[in-house]
Amino acid sequence: MELHHCVIPAAGLGTRFLPATKALPKELLPVLDRPVIQWAAEEAVAAGARRLVIVISDGKELIQQHFTVHPALEALLEERGKLAELEAVRASDHLADFTWVRQDEPLGLGHAVLCAADAVGDRPFMCMLPDDLSHGPVPVLRQLADAYAEHQTPILALMRVPREQISRYGCATVAESDGSVHRISAVVEKPPADEAASDLAIMGRYVLTPDIFDALRTTEPGAGGEIQLTDGIAALIARGPVHGIEFTGELLDVGTPAGWLATNARLALNNATFGAALRDAQGVVSA
Ligand code: UTP
Repeated sequence: MELHHCVIPAAGLGTRFLPATKALPKELLPVLDRPVIQWAAEEAVAAGARRLVIVISDGKELIQQHFTVHPALEALLEERGKLAELEAVRASDHLADFTWVRQDEPLGLGHAVLCAADAVGDRPFMCMLPDDLSHGPVPVLRQLADAYAEHQTPILALMRVPREQISRYGCATVAESDGSVHRISAVVEKPPADEAASDLAIMGRYVLTPDIFDALRTTEPGAGGEIQLTDGIAALIARGPVHGIEFTGELLDVGTPAGWLATNARLALNNATFGAALRDAQGVVSA
């Protein structure tokens, strides 16, 4: 089956980014010229998604507004001959079809994905966290979709991390490997470093099969008292094969102030519009 749906959980509280995110959802902070959520939506579309199911919570309605047609703004831009801006505004409206889903309480990532069950239905789907931005020749979600086309199983995005950092992530145990593709025999959310089975961290890009919803319905709160997507995936492993790929390229953090700043700087340096301004500013700073 083809992957046409992508679930983007964006209902989290964004506490690591306070006070910036007290009124403004972290997903609307800009990276260069567009908000974080648009980078995510563009990656999903590049991976083949046609319907984006975005999970939001109270106070995050502005995210929906970003993808809603604004006829008065478009008319004004047209009247004033601001055609490049008009083009940019229209591009974000027409990226894909959108379904908006509510998570009433922040009960965890697994619960947020479960909130998308009706919108997704009985089909495999992609899922991505907008907190990381894909950087490299082939978008990370595209690499997962390609792996799904080959294996027809759930696919996880894996990244090797220094052992002492594995306790910040979900950790995958490998049963067998074929180069950078691994069959996964177990997953554990945030294990203590000295108990972790590997240095393979589970990153925020997934292809999931619809049986994840049944698994999540019976998943008890785990690490941090939240319903963990990793625990739902553990239940999938008990039912059939699950693969993970060590993706190429990078996922750049935009979910913390330091990560967001570093990502903006890295992308700006090589950007035709912003590179010169940033290099000038660096000259000023280092003078
Ligand atoms: P995080 O762990 O980064 O949590 O969630 P957060 O609330 O967004 O941010 P901090 O840690 O308080 O700063 C990972 C992803 O899961 C979503 C978030 O929106 C983010 O995309 N999420 C998390 C939900 O949608 N609902 C939840 O209940 C928890």
